Amino acid sequence: EPQWVLMATGRSPTNIAVIKYWGKRDEALILPVNDSISVTLDPDHLSATTTVAASPAFPSDRMWLNGKEIELSGGRFQSCLREIRKRARDVEDKKKGIKIKKEDWEKLHVHIASYNNFPTAAGLASSAAGFACLVFTLGKLMNVNEDYGELSSIARQGSGSACRSIYGGFVKWCMGKNDNGSDSMAVQVVDESHWDELVIIIAVVSSKQKETSSTSGMRDSVETSPLLQYRAQTVVPGRILKMEEAIKNRDFDSFARLTCADSNQFHAVCLDTSPPIFYMNDTSHRIISLVEKWNHAEGTPQVAYTFDAGPNAVLIARNRKTATLLLQKLLYCFPPQDNDLDSYMLGDKSILSD
Ligand code: PMV
Repeated sequence: EPQWVLMATGRSPTNIAVIKYWGKRDEALILPVNDSISVTLDPDHLSATTTVAASPAFPSDRMWLNGKEIELSGGRFQSCLREIRKRARDVEDKKKGIKIKKEDWEKLHVHIASYNNFPTAAGLASSAAGFACLVFTLGKLMNVNEDYGELSSIARQGSGSACRSIYGGFVKWCMGKNDNGSDSMAVQVVDESHWDELVIIIAVVSSKQKETSSTSGMRDSVETSPLLQYRAQTVVPGRILKMEEAIKNRDFDSFARLTCADSNQFHAVCLDTSPPIFYMNDTSHRIISLVEKWNHAEGTPQVAYTFDAGPNAVLIARNRKTATLLLQKLLYCFPPQDNDLDSYMLGDKSILSD
């Protein structure tokens, strides 16, 4: 049999939720208890780059994350692979003399290599970029013809938040009503050019891996937090409507208030969970105080903060001028320590990247 390798490469940025997803109504299909809205970052700073290769010489499916082989047995990779394989179509590469019929994809194994240009599992939504990129790139390799909504619904089955990274700009994940998940997918609210004055600064408080995975945290919250039910049913639907309005009108005051309130309620749900989950630490709390005091002193919000399943702060500044002031304030309140300076001098600009 002739030996050949067919490859495709893609890159997806991560996204940061401004109205949070927290809690599943169906764990296997990853169906959420509420809608969520996020902003997709620009791919230069926080993204996953994935290369997928298929060859008759590969005896099994295998995957490497940041150069280290990982188990593919977890159901989530298998779900994404299976869903894309189902939709695979004929592929022909005349130059290489490769011809793959759509039914051949069932027998062809793939090798997947994925790299994150930022810390993995530190609450910076690395799985969002990773699964969005995996689904998109596999789709390219296998010549699938589905629209972005369909791809987002497949990425959702890898990691919920991944469904929002299929699009740029501001994105809404509609929870859907169906039990089979067919209407639980992401839609773009506005594209990346709509509100390009905003500057997003990520203050890496700790790049250690988080202690409670979002999967087990969500499960505990759904089972034990009365606040989660109230949030999902009574609070979030109204916030989603207001947030969409704020984004469409580029209304930073409303955007910032909703973003901060929703991050705080998500962490309140974590505290309301038994046993309680602490994702933020003292440094995170000091960053919140700094922003709250500054916003209060100005009379109108200058910066919004939001925290995911980890202590790192995502700070969204109104414009470049406020972003510069914010960096000055952060450096004044959190002067770099000797080891930070070392890595900065060695070219690790991540502590100051926008
Ligand atoms: O998709 P997951 O399982 O990584 O969960 C993400 C949960 C949060 O980041 C905390 C919120 C969100 O909407 O992204």
